[in-house]
Amino acid sequence: MATLDKSSLQLPKENLEAEDFLPLLGTDYVELYVGNAKQAAHYYMSAWGFQPLAYAGLETGLKDRVSYVIAQDKIRLVLTSPLNSGGDINRHIDAHGDGVKAIALWVDDATKSYQETTSRGADSYFEPKKEEDENGVAVFSGIHTYGETVHIFVERGNYKGVFLPGFKAWNPHYKPTDVGLKYIDHMVGNVGWNEMNKWCEFYAKVMGFAQLVSFDDKDISTEYTALMSKVMSNGNGRIKFPINEPAEGRKKSQIEEYIDFYNGAGVQHMALATDNIIETVTKLRDRGIEFLTVPSSYYETVLDRVGEIDEDLAPLKELGILIDRDEEGYLLQIFTKPILDRPTMFIEIIQRKGAKSFGKGNFKALFEAIEREQEARGTL
Ligand code: FE2
Repeated sequence: MATLDKSSLQLPKENLEAEDFLPLLGTDYVELYVGNAKQAAHYYMSAWGFQPLAYAGLETGLKDRVSYVIAQDKIRLVLTSPLNSGGDINRHIDAHGDGVKAIALWVDDATKSYQETTSRGADSYFEPKKEEDENGVAVFSGIHTYGETVHIFVERGNYKGVFLPGFKAWNPHYKPTDVGLKYIDHMVGNVGWNEMNKWCEFYAKVMGFAQLVSFDDKDISTEYTALMSKVMSNGNGRIKFPINEPAEGRKKSQIEEYIDFYNGAGVQHMALATDNIIETVTKLRDRGIEFLTVPSSYYETVLDRVGEIDEDLAPLKELGILIDRDEEGYLLQIFTKPILDRPTMFIEIIQRKGAKSFGKGNFKALFEAIEREQEARGTL
């Protein structure tokens, strides 16, 4: 059953006040290193409804890389590719395939954010630096997190340009309509065997996050495979990072498959929020996005489990949208198949109707769907 201890969903007040040495205003952007940023931008625009926002490359004075910035409501993606052979971006793509390099966090003070986190043990990615152009000044700093993933603190209070210094507005003729995606609900990291607690402690100690919920292998196991997961959240709840590790099962955990193909820890999925999941998923499916499906028997009993919902069941069943409930409400969610050649990253679409949890009641049905895909790949 999808019941969570309500107390575990709330951050203790004293903890909140004592630990908020790192106030985060939200996710600023997510940067992916990809093999071909121009074509990736076209995919995220045409299939996912992102809009062109900004560009940096040879025309703006960069010599070694190109970045396209695309946006949908509060979500900003930066797609970066190298322009020459060799170098760190090529090495990253060779090791991991396309994937998330940076989860950038919007802060009031990037220098203080750097000091607070590095003094608590974070490894520096780069020291605070100022960048400016005719539209103002922004300050950045960066720290390492799991695998080769980094957090970049972005202070943009004195910047008025379209994205950040060094980028020019990108305004092509092609602007496909959006699909109703609003903001990043959570971003999930996969880490190696027995590393979940280490990284949860990192978010607690170094970044002042608190643990919202945890799931062990009894919650998240099927007949064959298992994983463990804990959800870490910052003080104001705007940033939520579930961390998964593989657990022993009769066959290979989906987390292990990820780690094998990504060559280490990294971002497993981004959950993007919508106000109308039926509309959003209908559009995405029409534009070629492939979702995991659950057996139609899921819908025979789901309302017994979650009670009454506002939506008709028929379109949810037709699209394969999953439903779960906690003490505060319910949620609707669906997961894509991996969106890259390697079976690594995928995207979740989520609509929250009061629920603050993550769909625990769906885990079993979902993971059985993933195992059917693994089976087809020969990686179960
Ligand atoms: Fe998720």
